[in-house]
Amino acid sequence: MSFSVLEFAAVKLDDEKSELIILDQTLLPNETKYLHLTTQESIWEAIYKLRVRGAPAIGIASGYGIYLAAKLSRADEFESFYDEFKKAKAYLASARPTAVNLFWALDRMERCVLTNKEKSVNEIKKALLSEANAIRDEDEEVCRKIGEHALTLLKPGMGILTHCNAGTIATAKYGTALAPIYLGHEKGYGFKVFADETRPLLQGARLTSWELKEAGVDVTLICDNMASIVMKNGWVDAVVVGCDRVAANGDAANKIGTSGVAILSKHYGIPFYVHAPLSTIDINTPTGKDIPIELRPGEEIYKAWYAKPMAPEGVNTYNPAFDVTDADLITAIITEKGILYPPYTESIAELF
Ligand code: MRU
Repeated sequence: MSFSVLEFAAVKLDDEKSELIILDQTLLPNETKYLHLTTQESIWEAIYKLRVRGAPAIGIASGYGIYLAAKLSRADEFESFYDEFKKAKAYLASARPTAVNLFWALDRMERCVLTNKEKSVNEIKKALLSEANAIRDEDEEVCRKIGEHALTLLKPGMGILTHCNAGTIATAKYGTALAPIYLGHEKGYGFKVFADETRPLLQGARLTSWELKEAGVDVTLICDNMASIVMKNGWVDAVVVGCDRVAANGDAANKIGTSGVAILSKHYGIPFYVHAPLSTIDINTPTGKDIPIELRPGEEIYKAWYAKPMAPEGVNTYNPAFDVTDADLITAIITEKGILYPPYTESIAELF
């Protein structure tokens, strides 16, 4: 695919300068600015504040982040090096609780340390660099495959609704839910995409509508509460979303509001597709009830994007960043290994 928006890398490493380079997604669509991060605190902050966001991109950032912590360690024998590594790992892991890719990537980096424990600390650092690069490179390949599988479920001219941003800047490249849209667009499918604005942090408005418009996709931005009328009008043939964690029974956590869209889809008889790299499926989490849901500051609801607060100062707020869509509302889960259908407990177990 050759759309120029796909060249915006969400996360890059400048190993020579020991910098993690992040596209600051809080500034989009008004500014495309890269931050050059050198400290663990600034990497933690970038994840917490959603400067880098989207489950796969968070995984990639944490892989490079822990690599930089390890690289800058002065320890020259394994035990003290590993102690420092574990502290840095726990710190980065505390940035956000829901997207399992954060923990998946950090665990993968720790396994790399332990596999190489007989080697010198310098050699372990080199192995960690390769592992972090592999996490990034594999994600690009995975997203492309998800796009290819997902495209088999879509037809030219379809109306497609999406929630939040599961696009190229949420991943190494292509996105998950948006990958089939890019692939179809390249083939001239003429999709008509509806992007939910996705309150309160407006990933749909700021990021999805920006990405798709840049690529020349026919995209219409709607407020979250307009999804029902758009569906009732007969304009939506499929819903595509990403996810932050899929439990072993197929329940899927994604951006707040996703479960409401799934309930609407069932009401209107519209297929509801979840796009999930295997790194987002957590077989150690039995059901959606066991997925920790991130609670964020209430100010994000009424202050973050407005020139003046649009609710009285001190108002009570409830701001969960994610909700869980029950497995029985999900028509199919699209992975890089193929399309999973219900019953998910079985199809997921078979895959692993
Ligand atoms: O809070 P965010 O913006 O990190 O939430 C992102 C989502 O909910 C995405 O849909 C999900 O991480 C999949 S990204 C390919």
